[in-house]
Amino acid sequence: MDNKTIKIGLIGFGTIGAGVVKIISQSRETLEKRLGASLELTKIADLDITTDRGVAVAPGILTDKADEIFDDPEIDIVVELVGGYEPARTFILKALAAGKHVVTANKALLAKHGDEIFSAVEDKHLNIGFEASVGGAIPIIRSLKEAMVANDIGVIEGIVNGTANYILSKMSDEDCGFEMALKEAQEKGFAEADPTFDIEGMDSAHKIILLARLAFGARIAMEEICIEGISSVTPEDIQCAREFGYRIKLLAVAKFDGQALDVRVHPAMIPASHSMANINGVLNAVRVCDNYMEENILVGHGAGALPTGSAVVGDIVEISRNIISGAKDRLPAQSYQGKHVRKIPLKNIESVESEYFLRFGVLDQPGVLSKISGILGDHSIGIESVIQRGRGPQGKGVPLIIMTHLAVEKNVRDALSEIDHLEVVCQKANFIRVEN
Ligand code: HSE
Repeated sequence: MDNKTIKIGLIGFGTIGAGVVKIISQSRETLEKRLGASLELTKIADLDITTDRGVAVAPGILTDKADEIFDDPEIDIVVELVGGYEPARTFILKALAAGKHVVTANKALLAKHGDEIFSAVEDKHLNIGFEASVGGAIPIIRSLKEAMVANDIGVIEGIVNGTANYILSKMSDEDCGFEMALKEAQEKGFAEADPTFDIEGMDSAHKIILLARLAFGARIAMEEICIEGISSVTPEDIQCAREFGYRIKLLAVAKFDGQALDVRVHPAMIPASHSMANINGVLNAVRVCDNYMEENILVGHGAGALPTGSAVVGDIVEISRNIISGAKDRLPAQSYQGKHVRKIPLKNIESVESEYFLRFGVLDQPGVLSKISGILGDHSIGIESVIQRGRGPQGKGVPLIIMTHLAVEKNVRDALSEIDHLEVVCQKANFIRVEN
């Protein structure tokens, strides 16, 4: 079997595409020794076939027509690294229709069109690899599908966006504002030119929706879950969090109590002693709690040409092994057999219980605290601790910070909208959920 060659068509010759080309060429010998066959990049399609990506490609393999890949009967595996919804969706469906296996890093596409794409994979008895779609180099997809196959997962959560984590870490380490941290992330090439998906939580939402599909067999749409980003987090929030012994992270959470799923993305305060509190900079982490392994945390680089490229190549090799051995339908694409992937009731964010960090701007005058604590009490919200910063000049606001005991989110929202109307409140409340 040593002289078998697996032929690959790559669509999308950007940063990760170049990483994949580099790894396949640089690790050729290692790959051959481990796979027992060779990998050949037969064609690379991209609209731009002139820019130098800093990697050598064999003459004549570049094309600006993706159809040349689908039409080439020799190509076994199509790697889609275009990103976004279209034309990536069409490319993947065309590849599957042509009987080719697929590897992709496209979490947005799988989160939105997962049902259609996974059905096409299952109908055609093909493979789809998407390890690179969540957490870059972190092997979480394979771990869920294989190592944790017997485990009933109760919680899967993580820091799954490197850009947001870089910004929050920078704001925390250097006491700088959001805009400045974002600018630096962009200058260093961590954030996309349009970083909206990263900082507003959509990228993390795509990833947790995909993880929840694998962990719980759940079909979830973006519109069904609470998604909040980090653009409203201030340096004051971060400083106060530190004083209370917490760090602020953009968390993607999915919890299952056997009846309903609690899936959400938002900035959260986590204790400094928490296993994910020191995941800083562009690092990602995914934490899984289940009935057998208890707690597992996987940490690694969530982005970048080589970390993400190595996850793509890992998928190519996995699929190549199935091709070589003739194995069909060996590993269900969605971890569950397709017929067991279903809608599971989702908890409304208003019914979720947590502790809350509340920050108000209030007039510095007698009776303010009792008014606010009275309203919180009326909504069954207990206070754990209070800090009032400094003395403000007459008629000017001072920050008031309250940490609550466990409270139901609806009660917190109702209380805050009442408090925001008080005359003594000069700056509306900002709240951050606490995840212990
Ligand atoms: N833009 C993502 C991040 C990387 O910042 O983590 C790709 O998923």
